[in-house]
Amino acid sequence: MKRPQATAITSGKGGVGKTNLSVNLALALHRAGQKVGVFDADLALANAHLVLGCRPNRTIADTLSGSCTMAETIVESQHGVKMIAGGSGLAEVMGLSDETRQKIIRGFSELSGELDHLIVDTAAGVESNVIDFVAACDRVIVVVIGEPTAFVDAYASIKVLHQETGRERFDIIVNRAPSLAHGDQIFSRFRAITDKFLKVSLNHLGTVPDDEKLGRAVGKCEPVISSFPDSPSAKAILKIAERIRSTEPPMVDEGAIGFFRPMPDYVRAAAKGA
Ligand SMILES: Nc1ncnc2c1ncn2[C@@H]1O[C@H](COP(=O)(O)OP(=O)(O)OP(=O)(O)O)[C@@H](O)[C@H]1O
Ligand SMILES: [Mg+2]
Repeated sequence: MKRPQATAITSGKGGVGKTNLSVNLALALHRAGQKVGVFDADLALANAHLVLGCRPNRTIADTLSGSCTMAETIVESQHGVKMIAGGSGLAEVMGLSDETRQKIIRGFSELSGELDHLIVDTAAGVESNVIDFVAACDRVIVVVIGEPTAFVDAYASIKVLHQETGRERFDIIVNRAPSLAHGDQIFSRFRAITDKFLKVSLNHLGTVPDDEKLGRAVGKCEPVISSFPDSPSAKAILKIAERIRSTEPPMVDEGAIGFFRPMPDYVRAAAKGA
């Protein structure tokens, strides 16, 4: 059986559109026939459930406290996308240890049969919680917008992820571009910087235009591809989902801890010795 694929959606700078892209890409993949889950890995300030319009009565904090299993934490949204919610201002999910994060990642194996694809919506930046969840994914998408501060932060984020995880390929989505042509230019400018200083290869997965309909959809607590399917942002996101479906993620190191990957030998050995 093929194991589910995990895709991280991350960024250097906050507020660039990760959560909206995560939820809408998940819905687009679901509509293409996949069983999809969104994991809100922005654990302390979780809000993906709001964009998906669902009210989870359980969060990852309940799994950690042992009051429910991972499978019981899943909530199915009205759109058919499943959700594993993070907490919001919950002390239990702030400042997690490395071991707890690894426990969360390994806990997803329980859901292997229920999912074809997991979209992991991370927090912004390069804190260890972001790095660990990103490293555990097969595909990594970095969201960039065409502002100098976002370029600097996205560059820093890719540099740290490359150094810490050895990953060389990153997919890029340019968000909030004035037009698709501008998106190509923004990507080229950004790639020129990484090409100069880093040994990484960037793949332009697509551009999502700046679209007031997306803001309106957020106001209605609905994914834009559901409330405004003909809007420019919805069409762009559907195209990107198709690219995700039709391309393989890079090969990952099966010896590292990851979502749905077999437990690495060193972890198994440590568990036996404990
Ligand atoms: N393509 C777009 N067009 C117009 N507005 C957008 C677009 N993408 C995002 N936005 C606006 O940016 C806001 C922030 O988006 P979102 O919450 O998805 O960002 P984020 O990267 O997840 O933020 P955080 O780093 O805080 O988690 C949205 O509520 C929306 O108003
Ligand atoms: Mg977010």
